[in-house]
Amino acid sequence: MSSDEELRRRKYEEALEIKSLRRIISAYLNYPEAAEEDVRRYERSFRKLPMAHKALLSHLPLKYQKLRRCISKNSFFIFEMLKAFEPPVDMSQDDESCDHLDDGSCGHAHLEDRDPCSCESASVSGRAHSKTSGEVLTGHEEKNENCSEPESGNLAVSLEGQKETHKGCCDPLTVSDKDMSSGPHESPDYLESMPHFHVPLVDVDKVRCVIRNIVRDWAAEGQKERDQCYKPILEELTRHFPERSKESPPTCLVPGAGLGRLALEISCLGFISQGNEFSYYMMICSSFILNQTQDVGEWTIHPWIHSNCNSLSDADQLRAASIPDIHPAGAGITEGFSMCGGDFVEVYNDPSQVGAWDAVVTCFFLDTAHNIVEYIEIISKILKDGGVWINLGPLLYHFADMYGQEDEMSIELCLEDVKKVATHYGFELELEKTIETTYTTNPRAMMQNHYFSAFWTMRKKSSVATSIQESMDE
Ligand SMILES: C[S@@+](CC[C@H](N)C(=O)[O-])C[C@H]1O[C@@H](n2cnc3c(N)ncnc32)[C@H](O)[C@@H]1O
Repeated sequence: MSSDEELRRRKYEEALEIKSLRRIISAYLNYPEAAEEDVRRYERSFRKLPMAHKALLSHLPLKYQKLRRCISKNSFFIFEMLKAFEPPVDMSQDDESCDHLDDGSCGHAHLEDRDPCSCESASVSGRAHSKTSGEVLTGHEEKNENCSEPESGNLAVSLEGQKETHKGCCDPLTVSDKDMSSGPHESPDYLESMPHFHVPLVDVDKVRCVIRNIVRDWAAEGQKERDQCYKPILEELTRHFPERSKESPPTCLVPGAGLGRLALEISCLGFISQGNEFSYYMMICSSFILNQTQDVGEWTIHPWIHSNCNSLSDADQLRAASIPDIHPAGAGITEGFSMCGGDFVEVYNDPSQVGAWDAVVTCFFLDTAHNIVEYIEIISKILKDGGVWINLGPLLYHFADMYGQEDEMSIELCLEDVKKVATHYGFELELEKTIETTYTTNPRAMMQNHYFSAFWTMRKKSSVATSIQESMDE
């Protein structure tokens, strides 16, 4: 590629990134308004009630006022998070320079604006579907039980460093002890100059999905779910790496790291841990919690307010969650902890990554693939010989049922075939179990989705053994 072409490509990708990022920030900024609109809708319905029914439910107007207070608390958290965010690209560029760009047109390298909630579970209608081109839905996440709401979509994006390399960035986390006692951040220029525009409701739903993910990763209420999902992984890592020297710690990669708790826990175990994540929705939030929080319980959010369905009581629905449940900077991380923004395939299918990792941990990630075979091939390539791959999760393929998107690829294999593919790429199964788990479930709701997640540890055989296996397969 000539240097002119390269420059044009970079400019194009940067413009795409700005466009994605604007949309995501707008989704966050639209949160209070969209939530207020919901409350107004509840009030409209209430006003339509006959007098006798109104009298019976006379507590509801007060509930709506309380909901408004909860929305302001959530909005305050979101706004502080946005104020702390430093966009990796120059957001002051003209709107017009980005407007001609088609969101779905650049399928590589830059962090797209796919949905973090590629986690929506098939709770009601069976599965989430794509809403517009360039957006993908699905995932494992507990459905937003605001029953009449659209299901969430799937966008993706890049964070810092991306603009330089277009291959993902792996910035060490600062996890600072910076004094935040001086009060909330000033509003940064990029927010001041952001044009205020409305985004589709599905985008705001992604913000709500991030809020539920915060409970999974960073609230005491998520402990049960973390014990189901993260604890078995941490125990396996400890078993396989009993001696973790401080001088030369083992390395562990966590693709699809979400809000970063698992990657942090792995770091605290004595690994050089790297989370990889391609959603800006997630990265903006994880970066805030990991780098900016100063105290346990510094923030209060009300994660469950957006659904009136399946609540046992209004108090349950309106309850608060304090976050974070631990202070990340004081958790005892191992030096070298980082979060890497970018698409797993783009970032790690690179010669520099071959044989780079002692362990790869995938948790609710494998089924985010367009092509799961490609994921497994890359995991095999980037592991050292003898390295371990620990996986936990279902096979709720995120790109399955992409009705109306004929060029959307989705390879959906059963567990048996996934294991066959892994064997082909040199893996030997050392442990296999089924573990019952939830994903971003409201533990007090009357409806909860449970997964019978596949859990395994596989070891990558030595190259010699792998090539023998390959030649036998041919
Ligand atoms: C279902 S969530 C699981 C998050 C986390 N591992 C957990 O267990 O809470 C899947 C995550 O993978 C991310 N993701 C999906 N495809 C990805 C890709 N190709 N590269 C990097 N991250 C990806 C999504 O943005 C999302 O945060």
